[in-house]
Amino acid sequence: MNWYETSVEVELGDRSYLIWIGEDVEEGILQAASSLLSENRRCAFVVDAGFSSNQPSFMAQLQDFGPILILPAGETSKSLAQLSSVYDFLAKNAIDRSCCLFAVGGGVVGDLGGFAAASYLRGIDYYQVPTTLLSMVDSSVGGKTGINIAAGKNLVGAFFQPRGVYSSTRFLTTLSERDFNSGMAEVIKHGLLYDLSLFEKLEQLDRLHPTHAELPRIIRRNCEIKAAVVGADEREQSASGGRALLNLGHTFGHAIENVAGYGEYLHGEAIGLGLLMAADLSKRLGNLQEKDVIRVREMVRRYALPDNLRQPISVPDLVNAMRHDKKVKRGTLRFVGLQKLGQAYIIQEVDDALIHEILSGFGAAE
Ligand SMILES: NC(=O)c1ccc[n+]([C@@H]2O[C@H](COP(=O)([O-])OP(=O)(O)OC[C@H]3O[C@@H](n4cnc5c(N)ncnc54)[C@H](O)[C@@H]3O)[C@@H](O)[C@H]2O)c1
Repeated sequence: MNWYETSVEVELGDRSYLIWIGEDVEEGILQAASSLLSENRRCAFVVDAGFSSNQPSFMAQLQDFGPILILPAGETSKSLAQLSSVYDFLAKNAIDRSCCLFAVGGGVVGDLGGFAAASYLRGIDYYQVPTTLLSMVDSSVGGKTGINIAAGKNLVGAFFQPRGVYSSTRFLTTLSERDFNSGMAEVIKHGLLYDLSLFEKLEQLDRLHPTHAELPRIIRRNCEIKAAVVGADEREQSASGGRALLNLGHTFGHAIENVAGYGEYLHGEAIGLGLLMAADLSKRLGNLQEKDVIRVREMVRRYALPDNLRQPISVPDLVNAMRHDKKVKRGTLRFVGLQKLGQAYIIQEVDDALIHEILSGFGAAE
């Protein structure tokens, strides 16, 4: 099948766009750049350093289409300093409103590049070219862009949709196993919050890896889920949960990333642990049964994601970090819980003591 024969649509009226997923979708990236040039529109590329060093032949092809800025790998690049370097790169290359930016990399470059596109000249077109599993199944879709500041993750950013998303699964062959597994945390999350049959499929399949025959279908299903949720509640405003449900495990996970220090836990590793904490919370609130919690734990372990904190970090520091989370409303911590496997809901209020107990149970220190 040719790369352009199937796609998933994110339906947002005149801002709708397609997500292309497949082994040879990189051809599509080059065609998109080439057709922009033929319309007299220039292209610029921000590229993750870990990707560029591992994919030299693709990088050599990109060079023909416009200037390239290589960004250092890792979460610490989602910073004001790197944002400023992207602005300088765009300005130095005289990128104007008719031009188009391609963000080539994982969630870090996607979030940073997307926010640069949202804010440079008050907004220029951009494409997401995800190169990690996490970015293919989650971060490249839905238009959340942004950077971290000292007070917390993703606290500065914008909703800004790309013009399209090109996911070439061949790129994943050079991804480390640890980063691949980190992406699996978001796949597990989508099954848990939205689609029990996806979760069951993960249980039935042997361990997924970059060349697993089922992987493109699994990525596609994740994109369908994310597209449906984003299409119904783009800006996380639904009273019944909507897009906010995608934050399952994230109140815990973001706090772990922040307190342990960005980079200590990969994003997906923190989210995997956050999913276990959310499952534990759901059990304590009488929704999940112990056997469900065990299924979640087994899935997290299957992908070598941590099931306990690696080092004891402080409970008060974690709770404090949660209070800075974007999900806090009028000072109340908000968690996403599981009504049952495959169905999430917003927990309106949780007793602080319960959160302390859960965190301690996973190795945090009082
Ligand atoms: N915007 C959203 O909706 C959203 C959703 C989920 C997560 N995120 C964000 O995504 C980020 C995490 O993304 P990530 O897990 O992709 O991390 P990442 O972008 O840091 O990439 C992980 C590692 O893989 C390397 N890499 C990338 N592609 C490669 C390839 N094809 N071959 C070899 N190495 C490659 C990178 O150099 C890096 O070291 C976090 O900042 C998180 O907050 C955003």
